[in-house]
Amino acid sequence: MEAFRCGDYVRSEKEYSAELKPGDVKCLLNRCLVRIRLGKSSEAIMDADEVLLIEPLNWKAVYRKACALGQLGKYCEAVHLLKGVDLGKLPSSDIQAFRCKMSMFGGMVNKDHDDEESIAFAPNKIQTYGLHFKGYPAPPTMVEMDQVFRVGVFLGNEFGLFSPLLMNKVDLLVNSYPIKGMIQLIDEPVLDDHGRCEFRVRVVSVDTTFQIYVQGSGAIEPILSCPIGSISPSMACSCKLIQMTNQSFQVYQSAGELGIGGKLWDSATVLIRFLESRDLKEKTVLELGAGTGAVGIACALLGASDVLITDLPQVVPLISANIANILNAHASPLVWGIPPYTEREFDIVVMSDVVYDPEFYQPLVDTLRGLEYDTVVWAHRSRHPDEYLFFEMLRDEFALLRIADGQRNGENGTASDVARYQIKKKKKKKKKKGIGVFENGGIPGL
Ligand SMILES: C[S@@+](CC[C@H](N)C(=O)[O-])C[C@H]1O[C@@H](n2cnc3c(N)ncnc32)[C@H](O)[C@@H]1O
Repeated sequence: MEAFRCGDYVRSEKEYSAELKPGDVKCLLNRCLVRIRLGKSSEAIMDADEVLLIEPLNWKAVYRKACALGQLGKYCEAVHLLKGVDLGKLPSSDIQAFRCKMSMFGGMVNKDHDDEESIAFAPNKIQTYGLHFKGYPAPPTMVEMDQVFRVGVFLGNEFGLFSPLLMNKVDLLVNSYPIKGMIQLIDEPVLDDHGRCEFRVRVVSVDTTFQIYVQGSGAIEPILSCPIGSISPSMACSCKLIQMTNQSFQVYQSAGELGIGGKLWDSATVLIRFLESRDLKEKTVLELGAGTGAVGIACALLGASDVLITDLPQVVPLISANIANILNAHASPLVWGIPPYTEREFDIVVMSDVVYDPEFYQPLVDTLRGLEYDTVVWAHRSRHPDEYLFFEMLRDEFALLRIADGQRNGENGTASDVARYQIKKKKKKKKKKGIGVFENGGIPGL
């Protein structure tokens, strides 16, 4: 219980597993909740199912199973389950939670994705996988001619978790970047059964700005690693290559130093792909919670006239390093819920993976209320069972539209459990009763 209160869900799951006795409904429900928080959706569903075998009308088990199904993108199934509960028998506080979930999942049921194929997808399969740089031993920041050093990489999802699913689809390519052939490989880079690999590299040509890169193929997103040379900011520990249809760019990452703000998340990649299909020419753009700033940089490269890329103050130096050569992008601190934000008006606000911690739901909604813009485009991976509260907070003042762009799961390497939304401020004068918050549709005119 203590571990749960402290938010230490890994320990909490272990504790509940250790104390679980056959038929212990309370313990199963607790472990189910912890597993939802850990994103272990399939295991959470197993716990809920075990409770429902013992108590078929246990509405907490139904609710938690629906949350876990929602995490897997199985919205239809989740709504069906929730609708089967007789709300009249629930405490009033819980009726509201059920209604919110039904409304949220109901809005997420997207005809393009809601078929047998998408239901069969497991989250591990639809997340973007990458080759991550292994920080041990630390990469050199300057290299001498003939210097030999070790590089380590591992295959993992956005949290660095390994899955054997994609092992047979990976071919490792290792070379220097952007000028090939400036390094010599001493060992053959081959991933072991756990998706890990270490190899030695010798520098055979001197240049202070080149980088060694390690690239996967098949379903793997390429990730650049191991920046070498004087251009790398001291806090950067790896780089990531972002490939758009007609151009590519790199961003430094600094996850060790900056935590979540220091790395690129799948939602950013999905949002960049989406924005590529839109006309951003001459648009002004603001990015909130930018992390590496990749989405804002992509907007700048796609023709936006001016892009303001923002995050917490400690993340701004990383953004500044990443936009060093991009004239139409600027970095600035912007802390949600702490006005004044900016005096400027924007055509578009972009944000990816910014709704994950309930503590910041209200500050983010306050920020969206305080800013002046035409449209927000938001890419979101569902992570927290309480996130319906964020949707609830938007309901009165904002119109939320789920964007369907016709892409199916996994197409073009997209992490298709990442949903895309358009948010607009509702016009106060034309307030109508009973406007649905969720709809499917396109995003005209962006
Ligand atoms: C999960 S990361 C996503 C980063 C980036 N958008 C991406 O998709 O790669 C969440 C980002 O929100 C930022 N953030 C969190 N709380 C914030 C706050 N109160 N004000 C401003 N930014 C915040 C974090 O620093 C972090 O960069």
